[in-house]
Amino acid sequence: MNITVTVNGETATHDVEPRLLLVHYLRDVVGLTGTNVGCDTSSCGACTVHVGGESVKSCTMLAVQADGADITTIEGLAQGDVLHPMQRAFRENHGLQCGFCTPGMVMAAVSLLEEHPHPTEAEVREGLEGNLCRCTGYHNIVKAVLAAADAGDSGAAATGSPGVAGRVPASAGAPS
Ligand code: FES
Ligand code: FES
Repeated sequence: MNITVTVNGETATHDVEPRLLLVHYLRDVVGLTGTNVGCDTSSCGACTVHVGGESVKSCTMLAVQADGADITTIEGLAQGDVLHPMQRAFRENHGLQCGFCTPGMVMAAVSLLEEHPHPTEAEVREGLEGNLCRCTGYHNIVKAVLAAADAGDSGAAATGSPGVAGRVPASAGAPS
């Protein structure tokens, strides 16, 4: 069936199978491979994107559920060569090792600071509990988010369209 989705400001219509997951739509149909698949079972958060301004694990949602939605992926954060403040904070605080979890972590962290511009360390850890890092780099990830908060860089990536039902919030479903 046809769906029309705006991804990082570009609107396109595609014919997709009803069973296609949003993460596979973004990677395989739209061609944006920055969003990773770590588990496909809503546990790891590597697939986190923003749908209608909300952080969503894109493996928990069908592409057809995103019909009409405004989506931001990791590719939509930087402005040309200028990194998003959260990306810069991750780089400056060594908030990544292999980088596999990083796109999802950054997207979740941007959402977290939009909701809580000045979180405590505990609130950052709780806010990112749905995102797993297999390199166990949590200390520097938390440092990066706190640094971005200190700098006032909540880095809004909200897109303004309504949220979409049927998805699992990125903060849900995984141990800290
Ligand atoms: S791929 Fe792991 S939560 Fe989506
Ligand atoms: S940096 Fe390797 S999984 Fe997080």
